[in-house]
Amino acid sequence: MLIEQMNSREYYRSMLLFTAALRELNTKFEIINEEFAIRLKSNPIEHIKSRLKTSHSIAKKLTKKGYEPTLENALKYIDDIAGIRIICSFTEDIYRIATVVQAQSYINVLKIKDYILTPKENGYRSYHMIVEVPVFLSGKKEMTRVEIQIRTIAMDFWASLEHKIRYKFESDVPQSINDDLLECANIISSLDEKMLSLNNEIEGYKPEKK
Ligand code: GTP
Ligand code: MG
Repeated sequence: MLIEQMNSREYYRSMLLFTAALRELNTKFEIINEEFAIRLKSNPIEHIKSRLKTSHSIAKKLTKKGYEPTLENALKYIDDIAGIRIICSFTEDIYRIATVVQAQSYINVLKIKDYILTPKENGYRSYHMIVEVPVFLSGKKEMTRVEIQIRTIAMDFWASLEHKIRYKFESDVPQSINDDLLECANIISSLDEKMLSLNNEIEGYKPEKK
């Protein structure tokens, strides 16, 4: 059904809203990053990635959730049609960015999942927010939903590999590989902690003038 709707004006209009919301947020995050760079003399954001879910995966996700794959259901039940991923150097930066997002009056934060404080059983760590941002089309304001994932470079490295493994084995991942993944997640977590404390240590260090 979604596939047939893909040529409709409503479908294009919705996708335009999501694309616009991603562009808006992308710019906001770039500005936040530059402001932090001036204030703290460091960039909290390493890089930003954004993506729009394909109609194929929207339909797949709806069917999996037990809904008819229609545009109406997609807008109602899928939070991550538009997704933006913020990759930071340090865990501390994740919370800095999250705090800034929450302080923006034009952004509605609908849901927060802190998988850093409470990692998933498989070891997955990231900070997730579902937000609504206003998009203005022909003078009309439309609140548009976006999933924001904030994670460190190391967490992103792990998540990419885990995703690749899960895809390869079609969810039927051998136990030994899951164990190794969990071990990697723990190593990565302590690496992130160590890198952060090392960074904090050097921040306070002022070399003597020769
Ligand atoms: P969906 O997973 O999107 O159906 O919704 P949910 O309510 O379970 O949301 P959750 O916040 O748990 O996950 C949203 C997104 O985070 C996923 O679509 C992935 O991009 C990412 N994610 C969540 N868990 C994992 C994981 O175990 N491994 C990897 N690689 N990514 C994950
Ligand atoms: Mg999930």
